[in-house]
Amino acid sequence: MNQKKSFYIKTFGCQMNVRDSEIIAQSLIESGYQISSDMNTASLIVINTCAIRAKAEQKVYSLLGSLRKNKKQNDGLKICVAGCVAQQEAEQIIRRMKHVDLVVGTQHIYHIPELLARSAETPIVTKLDNAYHIPRYLPDKRSLNKSSSALPYGSSRFVTIMQGCNNFCTYCVVPYTRGREFSRMAEDIVEEVAYYIEAGVTEITLLGQNVNSYGKTNPVLADGKTISFAQLLKNISALDGLRRLRFTTSNPNDLSDELIACFSELPNLCPQFHLPVQSGSNTILKKMNRKYTLETYLDRVEKLHAVSPKIALSTDIIIGFPGETEDDFQQTMALLERVKFHGSFSFKYSDRRGTRAEKLFPKVAEKEKGRRLNIFQNRQNEISLERNREYVGKRLELLVEKICTDGFVGRTSTNHLVHVKSGEHSPAPGDYIMVEIISAGRHSLLGSV
Ligand code: SAH
Ligand code: SF4
Ligand code: F3S
Repeated sequence: MNQKKSFYIKTFGCQMNVRDSEIIAQSLIESGYQISSDMNTASLIVINTCAIRAKAEQKVYSLLGSLRKNKKQNDGLKICVAGCVAQQEAEQIIRRMKHVDLVVGTQHIYHIPELLARSAETPIVTKLDNAYHIPRYLPDKRSLNKSSSALPYGSSRFVTIMQGCNNFCTYCVVPYTRGREFSRMAEDIVEEVAYYIEAGVTEITLLGQNVNSYGKTNPVLADGKTISFAQLLKNISALDGLRRLRFTTSNPNDLSDELIACFSELPNLCPQFHLPVQSGSNTILKKMNRKYTLETYLDRVEKLHAVSPKIALSTDIIIGFPGETEDDFQQTMALLERVKFHGSFSFKYSDRRGTRAEKLFPKVAEKEKGRRLNIFQNRQNEISLERNREYVGKRLELLVEKICTDGFVGRTSTNHLVHVKSGEHSPAPGDYIMVEIISAGRHSLLGSV
């Protein structure tokens, strides 16, 4: 007897993968599959993978390894590997993991159902197209598994505005896994955002590997013309009912004055900016091919503070890039002291296959990378706490995300998590509520209604 086909998706990596997994889910549902919340009973397992660091990739291989026994127990089980590791390592996956049925690259996630139907002949589909069009994909409520809720899409959604990257930072796999930069049509993006707002969504995060380059490599208007990222933000910001607008990520290299000005001009653009710097040393920035200097970075930061004094800045840091000396590292520490980022994501440099940095020497020893990373993260933790304490006594508006047994959790426009102990107020997810911040921790704040 043939049971109804069901699928389970495991997602690794960035927000774009999260959004891609939604699209995969939708296309499967449209082809007659049901969502399953149990990996062990689903008839199809899709693993949406991330290749950014070796660790991310190892997680994929170890999960795949453990699925061998699932395949043995359930002959009909199909296993599909999608995303960035699939894009880069397709042959290796098929060779090492005989139980995998299908490997789909980042531009082929829309066709998984059809590809599965003929996966016996073509287990690898990873061709990258330079002029890749992100199809219009308005999400179906059923694909989101929240159909009974008053807010079928929740209150916050991701919207992909562009894919790929042409920057070729020397350490990074993304240009290889996501291909060349390609921007979606502005009209499609606005239509997608409007669709969500209609369904009760009030917060939108625009996604791209480098949103500042929006519209730079292909026309995004029907008449063959283009618009800048800042103009796109303005068009979206003007949509009635949108209370919070965010975006991620942007390379500081092409951060325009026009975009900086948006932080004072657009009332619903959140005062929060993730602006990855990677290193505080010009020597290292050059070797990374970041195309900006420490001085231009600091200049951008100063301008941002000038137009939006309460903006919360966060960053990414790579520790132990090939050739990083103690002095280079100290310059990164000095940058941290100078900007006092609200938060940062810091990582040990990881060699990626096919990147230029893979061939750069001398490599910094693992132990030394670990030592530097520790120093950086300890200091960042102290600074985050200092920064968070600045909010104590302030009244801030929260978007409620989650109700817990003893209260609720919400997010400020600056993207800080706030825990609130319940009083007489019992808000619902999606509500906006004013709270007073009563204390601060390193990673979150405590508030009261
Ligand atoms: N497009 C964004 C970054 C996307 S990747 C930008 O240009 O800023 C997310 C983060 O992963 C990067 O900012 C970087 O800090 C980290 N990262 C990327 N490749 C890495 C590598 N090979 N080793 C360690 N960290 C890496
Ligand atoms: Fe990678 Fe970002 Fe550099 Fe593009 S801009 S190569 S995504 S780090
Ligand atoms: Fe990872 Fe690919 Fe995103 S490498 S960070 S899933 S673009």
